[in-house]
Amino acid sequence: MHKIFAKPLFLGKHIVYLPECQSTNEIASKMAATSELLEGSVIITDKQTDGRGQRGNTWVTEAGKNLTFSLFLKPSFLKISEQFNMTMIISLAVREVFEKFSHSSQVQIKWPNDVYIADRKCAGILIENSLKGNKLEEMVVGIGMNINQGNFHVSQATSLFGETGAEFELRDVLEETLIAIEKYYLQLKNSGLHAIRSNYLSKLMWKDEWHIFEAAGKAFNGKILGVDQIGRLIVEKDKNQYAFDIKEISFLK
Ligand code: BTN
Repeated sequence: MHKIFAKPLFLGKHIVYLPECQSTNEIASKMAATSELLEGSVIITDKQTDGRGQRGNTWVTEAGKNLTFSLFLKPSFLKISEQFNMTMIISLAVREVFEKFSHSSQVQIKWPNDVYIADRKCAGILIENSLKGNKLEEMVVGIGMNINQGNFHVSQATSLFGETGAEFELRDVLEETLIAIEKYYLQLKNSGLHAIRSNYLSKLMWKDEWHIFEAAGKAFNGKILGVDQIGRLIVEKDKNQYAFDIKEISFLK
């Protein structure tokens, strides 16, 4: 796992492998703050003791069975207001890899950046930024991908093993993930935002369907219409459109 990868151009050329750590995001941020960390470095562990999730949640997975890693990037070509572009490309890449290995036609992105196979989550992403002026100076992209784990504490989780009954080489899945992220990262850098946005929207779970959501403590019937430039979810409700950020809305059913 700790040998560098040949195929990606710049991701995974420097790999820091830790058998155990609190959180790869935390290690990556500390390393970036205290040393010259090469862009594209991967910090990877078999076991996280304090894995961080979105909305202040923890990320708990079985040691040695999954991919838990962080990528260090310097997307200084993006303004702070363009952060969501990174969310889109990372989720597109991770989604694509699950589709490739599971052969499932039901791999989708749950806004903003969870990957689901049918109605179960198989991957989570936590992006943490450091800013310089109005630019995104440094970014730690933390990715948790459920690969060979068979049982989960929560019912709404799955893995490649859970979907296919087969075990996968973690290194192969990681290499494909780095290749896919690199492809979308270069597309974004080369003015491919329009295509990325439409690709992201085409893979979005519940888009253009009526479902039950919750906002401000109230459940309501709504339809996802899309996302705005800063990544807020645009939902139709009672013939009006509303924009929600991540803390403001939950998906019920
Ligand atoms: C979520 O869906 O809540 C995001 C989960 C992100 C988990 C990954 S695992 C590797 C990296 N290190 C962390 O502490 N978190 C991310």
